[in-house]
This record gives sequence, C-alpha cells and structure tokens, in this order.
Amino acid sequence: MDYFAYVRGRLHCEDVSVDALAAEYGTPLYVYSARTIIDHTRKLARAFAPAGDPILCYSVKANSNLSILKLMRDEGAGFDVVSGGELHRVLSIGADPRRVVFAGVGKTDEELRTALERDILLFNIESEEEMENLDRIAGGMNRVAEAALRVNPDVDPHTHVYVATGKKETKFGVDLERARRVLARAGRLRNVRMSGLHVHIGSQITRVEPYVQTLQRLARFLPEARAMGHPIEWLDLGGGFGIWYKEKLARSAQEIADAVMPSILAMKVRLLLEPGRFIVGNAGVLVTRVLYVKESGKRRFVVCDAGMADLIRPSLYGAYHRIWPVTTDPAHGGEAPDEEQWRGPTVISDVVGPICESGDFFAKERKLPPVRRGDLLSIFSAGAYGYAMASNYNSHPRPAEVMVAGRQAKIVTRRETVEDLVRLERVESFDVDPGAAAQGPG
Ligand SMILES: Cc1ncc(COP(=O)(O)O)c(C=O)c1O
Repeated sequence: MDYFAYVRGRLHCEDVSVDALAAEYGTPLYVYSARTIIDHTRKLARAFAPAGDPILCYSVKANSNLSILKLMRDEGAGFDVVSGGELHRVLSIGADPRRVVFAGVGKTDEELRTALERDILLFNIESEEEMENLDRIAGGMNRVAEAALRVNPDVDPHTHVYVATGKKETKFGVDLERARRVLARAGRLRNVRMSGLHVHIGSQITRVEPYVQTLQRLARFLPEARAMGHPIEWLDLGGGFGIWYKEKLARSAQEIADAVMPSILAMKVRLLLEPGRFIVGNAGVLVTRVLYVKESGKRRFVVCDAGMADLIRPSLYGAYHRIWPVTTDPAHGGEAPDEEQWRGPTVISDVVGPICESGDFFAKERKLPPVRRGDLLSIFSAGAYGYAMASNYNSHPRPAEVMVAGRQAKIVTRRETVEDLVRLERVESFDVDPGAAAQGPG
C-alpha cells in the first residue's frame, strides 16, 4: 500500500505530480511519500499493540535521511542503529537515547563508549568477545550496560542468501549452544546486565513461519536463560518484514502479529521490533531520465541517468523493481504501472545506467511501453536500501531526495555537486624511488 498513483496518465506522489518534481529538482531524484511512511508505521504499531507496550525501533540502515528519522521520531518510534554514524544521526534529530538499540557484529570501542555515554536502551551483543569488551569499557566508565544477547536460531528465512541472517553459518549472533556458554560467562560480569534476547533472521521475509519457528526456539531457551539468573525483560524480534516488489507475496502487519502474538504473550517480555524496509520500501521511487535508446545484438537498451551507484539492489541481489514511464497514455490502461494491465504497444528492453559495469542494470528483458530520449521513468519500491546504499562510483554525484506530504514537496537532501566529490581529498606530490623490481604479478 502506498500513495503513488497515476492520475490521467501522470504519476503522482500524494498530491504532487512526479514530472513536475523532476522538472523542478532534476534527475536522478528520489521521491518519498510521508503519508506512506506514517501509514506503514501505524499499521505495525496497531497490529503489535496487544503485546503490551512494544517499542518500534525503526532500522536506520534502510533509509537514514534525517527528515525521515524526524518523521519516525514524531510518530513515537525508537531506533535500531548499527554504527556510531547512525547513532549520531538519530541523536541529531533529538531521538530519545532510551529508545535506541545498538546492533552490529563489529562495534568499535569508540562506538561502545559513545553509546554508553548517551545511555542508550540496549546493546545487542553479537559475540562473547564483544560482551567482554563492553564490560571492560563500561567498567572503566563506572557504568552498567544493558544488553540483549543476539541469538542465531538457525532458521531459514527463505529469502535472498545475502540478506539471510538467521542460519548459524552466517556471522550474526551466537548459536543456541554457544548462547548458553555466553550467558554463563555474562553471569560473572559486573558491568553488563543481560536483560534481553535479540534475533534478526533476515530481510524481505514474505512468510510468517520463520518467525513462528524462531519464537518456538526462543521460548524453549528463555527459561534456561532466566534460570541462570538473567532478568530477561526484553525480546527484540528484529525486522525483516517483506514488502511487495513484484508479486503480492508479503504478509500484512496484522498477519505477522497474529502469528507471533501467542508466543510473545506467553514469554512475558516487553517487545522490541526493528522494521526498516516495511516502513520505507514502498514509500519511495527513484525517478530517472532516459539519456539514450540503443540496440546491440538482439537487445535494446534504455540508458538512464541513474545507475547502480544510485540504486544497487538489482546489481547486488538481482532484485526486481517495477519500472514504468512517469507519464503514460491512460487510454491504454497506463493507470497501473505494470505490464499485465497495459494494453498499448510494448518493447522488450534492458533498463541500464551510465556506469561502466555490465552489472549496471535495473531490469533485463522487461516489457515496457516504448520510451524515447528525454522520457522519465519511475523505479518503484526504492525507498529502502536505495539512497542508503548509494555511492559515488564513476564519480557520479549522488541524487537529490525530495519528500512529499499532501501538496507540499521539500528537498530533504540536496543533489551532490562535482565539488562535493573531491571535498575530502588532497593533492599531494611524492618523490617515488622505483627501487628494486617489485615482486608479484604485473
Ligand atoms: C539487526 C537488524 N535489525 C533490523 C534490520 C532491518 O531489516 P528490514 O529492513 O528487512 O526490516 C536489519 C537489516 O539488515 C538488521 O540487520
């Protein structure tokens, strides 16, 4: 569900036409719908309300734009952060540190220290060594860190292997066998209080069974953890709730909540959730202009001004994003941006970017209405892991981001300039002694 729709053949984000935004702010351009973000947040909050007083910690990595973070804070959300940088972002928009949880397998001493100074709610501990390090640092600061042990329940989330984190062969958390040992060790630490369990089994999960299975395993483990003297008050179920990219496969917030609620209630814990994609994924599109249309061999290429540096998901995961012209002919059923409902002419095309990699594509052999140089395309469901993963590869400045609410549209990230690209660099000269011939290939 989102607030992007065609009105008489023109794509709108809420009450603003997307071609007008492209004309005003240029392309490539990320366009977000504030109403969609709020709608998704409220759906989750409503569905999980029977768990008592759950805290919805928006997963900043999905889209860390400050205006989105502020919108989430104003909705009462907390935050899931995985770096000092993300912590800085949420604190800079005035987030309450007591609603911040900190996960990630590689937290540095400096990051741990800063988070302790700010008195965050929970450290999601991913290894025994990290726990001991946290204990040492907290001890040096005369503090007691509240922690949740991230357990790896060894559950298959049935998602892309790059975003599956719940199998014990991945680097995340500790398996249940080791978790017993880590908790035994935790009992002897003075400056870490193990007050929760954390799981995050993967991303873009479109079934409820993996969550149910995870909770069954946690429910068996929880009494053991409590019997060891740990006051397990929090259960952080992570994120991972899938969205519609192509097929309408994903579960609704209500379906997920209904499936997991009996276990959560039985465990007598306070619930934390860390949704990212579910909140912002369908709340954003990437608008790109067609630069050229060319043919080579038997293929036709639509070359756009956006590429893998702006949205890497198709290149990285082979991810599917719906792509459709920003303006279409309503007489041909162009009101819905998909090939099934379109009754006009189509051309099979590869939609590609300007980057010098064969992996720089948004779609392969896609049925699209014929497009020409200068036309605008919308790449849908680009709100999560889009701009957040953007880079300057090939020295392309990153796009602008604009947020729409009703009739209002405001730039929330200005477009980078070529000057921005070189801002951190220095031109130094070196006297190089070629010396003896270097060893190795080349
Ligand atoms: C620990 C943790 N929590 C939450 C999330 C958010 O996942 P999603 O965007 O699929 O909800 C992630 C994503 O990788 C994560 O690693």
